[in-house]
Amino acid sequence: MTDPDLLEAFLRDDPQAPPRTAFVNILKRCNARCRYCTDWRASRDPRGDPSRKLLRALFADLVELGIADLVVSGGEPFLRRDVLDVLADAVALGLAVRVISNGSALTRDHVDALARLGVGRVGISIDSLSETRMRELRGLPVKRVMASIEMLAAQHRDNPAMRVSLFVTVTRHNIDDLLPLAAYAEKLGISIQFQPVHWAGTGTEQEILEELWPTAAEVDRLAVVIGELVSWQQTGTSPIASSDRYLAQMPGFFVNRTFRPARCTVAYTDVVIDQDLNMRPCWSMDPVGSVARETASRLWTSEQMRAARAQIRKGGCPGCLYSCHINKPHVELPSIPGIPESRGGEGVSALDRPV
Ligand SMILES: C[S@@+](CC[C@H](N)C(=O)[O-])C[C@H]1O[C@@H](n2cnc3c(N)ncnc32)[C@H](O)[C@@H]1O
Ligand code: SF4
Ligand code: SF4
Repeated sequence: MTDPDLLEAFLRDDPQAPPRTAFVNILKRCNARCRYCTDWRASRDPRGDPSRKLLRALFADLVELGIADLVVSGGEPFLRRDVLDVLADAVALGLAVRVISNGSALTRDHVDALARLGVGRVGISIDSLSETRMRELRGLPVKRVMASIEMLAAQHRDNPAMRVSLFVTVTRHNIDDLLPLAAYAEKLGISIQFQPVHWAGTGTEQEILEELWPTAAEVDRLAVVIGELVSWQQTGTSPIASSDRYLAQMPGFFVNRTFRPARCTVAYTDVVIDQDLNMRPCWSMDPVGSVARETASRLWTSEQMRAARAQIRKGGCPGCLYSCHINKPHVELPSIPGIPESRGGEGVSALDRPV
């Protein structure tokens, strides 16, 4: 669907227009302890994971709905023993698949298999190159995560079709880590994207505000770092896959405690299935129903989704700067002094573009 079509769909409130991307969390369990996430507090019993059969039926239904692009996440996807089978099922249905992981359980066999399956992008989350800060922020050993990243980067050199990206969650504690992380991505020939910590959709507002939200002085320091990332991004040869306009919103997001684009079309383009198998209009909004009980295609056109879209159209969403939703060329971002017309946010860095 072209962007004018999308705008039309939004203006007509037409959920029949095919969505573009589906995000599916294939389990809730996790072995990390990220301070901004609650998944690790869930049961660690694998018997609670959605079955491969259920996920296959869900993927087939998403294909019926018009989805071609699937992002698999969790919880930690690589804790599932059948993760490669689940991904293979999605590929067999013709879906272009991306996967996001904390990098702590990835093996060489996984990496080789991901390339063989034709997975288009592997995202690994990392918030610092410091052992202490990774322990404090994510409860993970940075060396193990870096070993996974480096295995993936080596695979990417052999199989450029499998792209690799670092995902960095920005908090008050890693402002000085952002440039070193970008330099690390550049050295490895992979890309990097940034998103601020959120509480919308997490139910942990107080904890996040008290422990992770930058103070006014820290926002000023972040603005300087963001300025450097923006300038680097604008050279057109950086590893940075966050668009310049997206990055430039980040200090304001922390000051205003949210961000709302003039017109957010995400609930028409992105199908979100969370770690409890609920469909949400977007990651920040409450669930509208469960795909364990109803099909995704029914939920997509349900009264509950229609009501959520109406709320968004009236400017009643909580707002967010989630990279997966907002760092997209079809999401209009306001201009910011000193930032020229947007170069688009495609989630693709100069390193990712075919030469
Ligand atoms: C929910 S995790 C799931 C995949 C995998 N476990 C991982 O950490 O990459 C996906 C991404 O969301 C980020 N994330 C989790 N909670 C967040 C929050 N409250 N605010 C912003 N980003 C968050 C993580 O850092 C990670 O990059
Ligand atoms: S690794 Fe991912 S799922 Fe696990 S606690 Fe951290 S952000 Fe949440
Ligand atoms: S919360 Fe974010 S993704 Fe959801 S509708 Fe609002 S701006 Fe869009």
